[in-house]
Amino acid sequence: MSYQDQGETEISTLTGFALETGEKAKGTGQITQLLLSLFTAVKDISYAVRKAGIVQLYGPTNVTVKEVKELDVFANNLIINTLRSSFGTSVLVSEGSKHAIIIEPEKRGKYVVCFDPLDGTNNIHCLAPVGTIFVIYRRKSTGEPSQDDALQSGRNAVVAGYALYGSATMMVVAMDCGVNTFLLDPDIGEFILVHKNVQIRNKGSIYSINEGYTKDFESAVLEYLQSKKSPQDSTAPYAARYIGSLVADVHRTLVYGGIFLYPPNEMYPQGKLRLLYECNPLAFIIERAGGLATTGKESVLDIVPTEIHQKIPLILGSPEDVKDFLKIYKKYEKPVCKCCPH
Ligand code: AHM
Ligand code: MG
Repeated sequence: MSYQDQGETEISTLTGFALETGEKAKGTGQITQLLLSLFTAVKDISYAVRKAGIVQLYGPTNVTVKEVKELDVFANNLIINTLRSSFGTSVLVSEGSKHAIIIEPEKRGKYVVCFDPLDGTNNIHCLAPVGTIFVIYRRKSTGEPSQDDALQSGRNAVVAGYALYGSATMMVVAMDCGVNTFLLDPDIGEFILVHKNVQIRNKGSIYSINEGYTKDFESAVLEYLQSKKSPQDSTAPYAARYIGSLVADVHRTLVYGGIFLYPPNEMYPQGKLRLLYECNPLAFIIERAGGLATTGKESVLDIVPTEIHQKIPLILGSPEDVKDFLKIYKKYEKPVCKCCPH
């Protein structure tokens, strides 16, 4: 759906986009209602994040850890309550909640939503961007809903997206039909379509990793980074960029191309990032934009989760960059012995 101003410009909104795709799907309208509720929550979080900045600016001291925590808690409660009253969901999994949230019977709908209400808040003191990440699945079972409904591989996702609260607020929404980006116009409180069917570059020139963990990296990661910093052919070295805020790092990768890596380190031997509400939605978006997302061993979207807060290594980005990484990774892979468990 779009509206026209008095000139020639046609403007498409995120609300219109959700209504239009819902209409085309000819379903019950539950997912449209669910998405519209989520977008409203995102707008509210965007305003709260901006307001937290003002507190920091004018308060006698910096925003305290407690206040930042409150912002996390606020975003978590807001999304849970908004989704609950959308009548579109039965099970929610959030980084902010230890257990899966089972919606009360009279408010249940067909969908499961996994989300990270506000990622990157450790960096919010210096006004680094933060983000909300989400992915939506159909419920697997027809009986009493449980957390098992959320233990689905990312390939089953119906919609995935993120909101980036940066110098502006952007929503990136991916469905099977592609990836679209919308910017929040604060004057009218509506997201406006800015890019349709976004495609990631085939190859970029940026690598993004926390190199502070170098001593812990596997040989494959070290060799790959070396190959980007000191290429053996005549190509220019890659630039290093790392914000330390996942949505911002992935959004830059989507827009400029290149590769983002969060491999295991001593503190996080399985990797730090969570499969259900960080890696899967971002992998779904990057793949729909023509990129790749892997743990090194397997495609992120193929993993069948066993726990709701499961962590995995994450490598994603431009297809040629991820393939270059995998080529090196495979060299170091130990052959699997079929006759013994080692
Ligand atoms: P969080 O879920 O506890 O907020 O942590 C996730 C964040 C991501 O935004 C970011 O990619 C990563 O942690 C940065 O970790 P590190 O500081 O180890 O580089
Ligand atoms: Mg997080």
